[in-house]
Parts: sequence; C-alpha cells; structure tokens
Amino acid sequence: MSKLTNAARAAVVKALPGPLARAITQSYDKAYQNRRRRAEGRRRMAALDEIIGGGPVTTSIRNDIEMLRKLHGVLDPIPEMQFGLDDLLRRARWRMDQLGEKGIDTKGLDLLDVGAGRGESLMVAREYGFRSATGIDYSADYYRALEPDLDPEVAASIQYVEGNLGEMTLEPECRDLVTSFQSFEHFLDPERIMDQCHRALRTGGYFYTVFGPLFRAALGGHRFGVTPVPYLQNLFSNDVVFRFMYGDLDFRGGRNTYTGEPVTAENPFPEMNQWTLAQFEELFAASGRWRVILIEKGLDRDYEWFARRFGAAMPECSMDDLLVSRLSVILQKK
Ligand SMILES: C[S@@+](CC[C@H](N)C(=O)[O-])C[C@H]1O[C@@H](n2cnc3c(N)ncnc32)[C@H](O)[C@@H]1O
Repeated sequence: MSKLTNAARAAVVKALPGPLARAITQSYDKAYQNRRRRAEGRRRMAALDEIIGGGPVTTSIRNDIEMLRKLHGVLDPIPEMQFGLDDLLRRARWRMDQLGEKGIDTKGLDLLDVGAGRGESLMVAREYGFRSATGIDYSADYYRALEPDLDPEVAASIQYVEGNLGEMTLEPECRDLVTSFQSFEHFLDPERIMDQCHRALRTGGYFYTVFGPLFRAALGGHRFGVTPVPYLQNLFSNDVVFRFMYGDLDFRGGRNTYTGEPVTAENPFPEMNQWTLAQFEELFAASGRWRVILIEKGLDRDYEWFARRFGAAMPECSMDDLLVSRLSVILQKK
C-alpha cells in the first residue's frame, strides 16, 4: 500500500469500515511524523553542533546565560497552541470521546470542570447529553469573550463560577463527573484540589483529567512561541531563566499570568506547581478512595534528540521525566 499515491490511498481507506480506516490513517500519520521528526532532528543537530561542538554536553550549563541566548537564536520556534473556537471545540470533543471509549456514558450526568479556562468542555456538554455543566476558574473573562459566538441555548445551559479553587470548599456529592484539562500542572496545591474533586462527586462518580506538558518534559516551562529552547527549566538556574525571560524577552511584562503579581528571580515559573511525574503518579494511583480506570502516560518524542544530547546536564531527571509529557487519568469514587 505504501506505493499508492495519496489520493488512491485515501480512496482505499475511505472504503474501509470506520474503526479500521481510523487505525490505518493513524498509522500513516505516525509514520509520517516519525520521518519528519528524524529529519528535523538531524537538521537541528547540525545547527547545534555549531554552538556546542559534536557529542553530548557533559558539563553543567546552569549558570551560562550566553549558552541560553545562543540556543534561543538557533533552534526552530515551538508551535503555539491554537485557541480559535473551532480548535477549542475539537479538543473538547476529543476529550469527551475518550470517556465514551472507556464505556462511560455521559447522558444525564452533572458535570463540573475545574480550571475551565475558555469553557470548551462546558460548551460541548449538551451535545454529550449532560444534565448540567458548571465551570470554575480564577476568571471567566476568556469564556465571556467567546459567549456571544455560542448557540444561546448552549450559553444558557452553562454556569461559570469565578474564584481560587485552592481556597474553595465545594458543595459535597453533587456531581457525577469532575473534569480538569491542562490545569493540574498549574494548580499550586494539587492535593487539596483532588480532595475537593473527590468531595464534589457522588459515590460512583468519575474524575477525568488530561494535562501537560509536565514540568520536567521538553516544553514543561510553558514558554511556547516565546523561546524555542526545550528543557530550559531543567538546564538553567532560576536566576538565568529569570534574567533571560523577564529581562531579555520582557515576557508578560514580568507578571504572573494568573495573579498579576510581579515575578521574582526565585521562581520564574510561578504559574506552575513544578510537580514531577512521580508525584502525580502517587497522587492519582496511591489513594484507596478511588478506583483507577486509566492512568496513561503520553510521550513527547519531538525533543528526544535534544534530551539525549543534554541529558547529562539534567542529572536529576530520568528519561521518563524528560519524555513523559502528558497524563490522562480516569478515576472512580469508591
Ligand atoms: C492552561 S489553562 C487550561 C484551561 C482549559 N481547561 C483548557 O483546557 O485549555 C489553566 C487554567 O487553570 C486556571 N487555574 C489555575 N489555578 C487555579 C486556581 N487555583 N483556581 C482557579 N483556577 C485556576 C487558570 O486560570 C487557567 O484558566
């Protein structure tokens, strides 16, 4: 089949039953991505050789701001996530579909989404048959900006509560599904928020989260579109990152995105809890009050070439720390 033209291949795949066609398309996509990754890896490696010479970096570069500046100048930009309404809804449906694939029927359920952001999970809730949909976030501003584009019935079905989850006590046993997307790496006290998610659920209800990049993974610094240097949070001292991000690049005017407070050299990543993979695994897997349905580790291999080259300069990070970028977790309240 690999000798077929793209059009002929698409026609053959289209004629196959849905799941088979999906599996084949996914395997083509993967093969294509792997080829692209290898080619990009080789090209970037050559650019890097000009800075660090051939072979792996074996000494610490923690305090070397010039090295950070050079890497910033030579690496390709890291693509930013897209936040148009269509992109958001596509991501939200993908997440909800994962529940269906695990046999969890969302019809008639009461949904709570914590760290709701733009509210896309709430926006698709009616499509998936939920009875109610409530979101909580520090701020509803991003959601309110999108609200006029929503079907009025969808907008009327959504409740959005503003506040700091770390300080809230949620109403007990009133939800069937608590979701949280792209937020658990940001919550400053994940244990407390897990307690609240557990409290809000009825017995037998589900907790479902997908989040990342985890802090030690390539893009864990969450500086997409700002600096192309992967692993900068592991490679460089806080002081160097602070001087570079908030001095050289004047990132976000030197303010914490969520609280608006000034960022200091002690912690140039104040929007992230900086938890490790092991800490999250313990949080989700080691508690007797949940039945574990899914704990899936998503790998980001795009920067494996870089991790191998700079691994010795990140001695506290295991290969799992460096490559596991995303966690998908489904738990059921016992
Ligand atoms: C990266 S955004 C993810 C938003 C959305 N769920 C998504 O998937 O795109 C993380 C969200 O968590 C919210 N957040 C972080 N810590 C919070 C807290 N303690 N209380 C309320 N919201 C919080 C932020 O305001 C932000 O909207």
